[in-house]
Amino acid sequence: MGLLNLSRQLKRRCDELGRISEEPHRLTRTFASPAMKRANRLTGAWMREAGLRVREDAAFNLLGVLPSKNKHAKTLLLGSHLDTVRDAGKYDGPLGVLAAIAAVQSLREQKVELPFNLEIAGFSDEEGVRYQTTYLGSRAFAGTLPAADLARIREKQIVKARRDKNEFLGYAEVHIEQGPVLEKYDLPVGVVTAIAGQSRLCVEFVGTAGHAGTVPMGLRRDALAGAAEFITTVESFAGKKSGLVATVGKIEAAPGASNVIPGHVSLTLDVRDQDNRHRRAAVNILHLKAKTIARSRGLKLNWAPVQQTNAVRCDAKAVNLFSQCIAGRGMKILKLASGAGHDAVALSAICPVGMLFVRCKGGISHNPAESVKTADVASAIGVLADFVQTLASKYA
Ligand code: GLV
Ligand code: MN
Ligand code: MN
Repeated sequence: MGLLNLSRQLKRRCDELGRISEEPHRLTRTFASPAMKRANRLTGAWMREAGLRVREDAAFNLLGVLPSKNKHAKTLLLGSHLDTVRDAGKYDGPLGVLAAIAAVQSLREQKVELPFNLEIAGFSDEEGVRYQTTYLGSRAFAGTLPAADLARIREKQIVKARRDKNEFLGYAEVHIEQGPVLEKYDLPVGVVTAIAGQSRLCVEFVGTAGHAGTVPMGLRRDALAGAAEFITTVESFAGKKSGLVATVGKIEAAPGASNVIPGHVSLTLDVRDQDNRHRRAAVNILHLKAKTIARSRGLKLNWAPVQQTNAVRCDAKAVNLFSQCIAGRGMKILKLASGAGHDAVALSAICPVGMLFVRCKGGISHNPAESVKTADVASAIGVLADFVQTLASKYA
């Protein structure tokens, strides 16, 4: 149907998926939720229409396969995720799954026969909203879920989603950039060279709940005031380090009444850097700073690392091939690193990975205002289809 029409169809599909939510007035679709199951059913129907054999694995990953006629062929995996953050935009994740489906539509329209199997994955948990641990779906798929993560979740059967790494040639993912670089250089797509590592922690400050009217200021052990001091410390510390970003994204104060001094606060901490040593050092320094704040206020501190993933380099051959396909369509090549996490991080444990970014308006993401241009998405579908086709032509 032509790339522009495939892109229009993809955007309509993102609109449809954007209405499948577990909350009434905003888009939120978390791991293993009824909304995710509905999104998988709908996307599965689009996969079937594109000629793929569809199933959902034990980790709620949606999988569609286009088998090669060559019985002993390996598999090229394409995909992204179908879960979202809270109050999400429509494109973070689904765009990559639907771009892979669109690339298959395009290749089949051109009657391209592939010498390898092509499999598309809609992974079930890239955001980590449900359990604060990312990549549950893709790590179950890669067989790299540690016992500690498994212990925190109810869906123990997800280990059965493990696949044999010898099956795969590689993994390629299209994703919105979620940052402003492509817009700055006025380019529709870019090649990802590396993905930042991240540390996620749960931090608790414990003080004493008390009467807001009777306890004098000097005699309080206010857990929320301690947490507030820590949050601004995190912001100013990361602000002084180039390449480091650190975020407190969620906070809960108890008991939670306007006339009660908060006795207990738990908050999330997310720390990222392209350099693993810098990130680990930053987490250690922030721990010391939290201890100092807690001590000075008579609070108890609980510091619990939840997950850490190291930075990942994209495969040099995939970077070159994406670059070649971009140039082949008359666009300038821009290589950039990703500050956001992606399923490619989990897949890098079992096969080479490559990623293509698509420009998004204002670099805005994790926000309902996420927006992409039809022409940019058409370019991304074309580049991905060329990537698959070129790989096929080189495949011995
Ligand atoms: C996922 O979007 C992440 O990087 O947190
Ligand atoms: Mn994403
Ligand atoms: Mn995201």
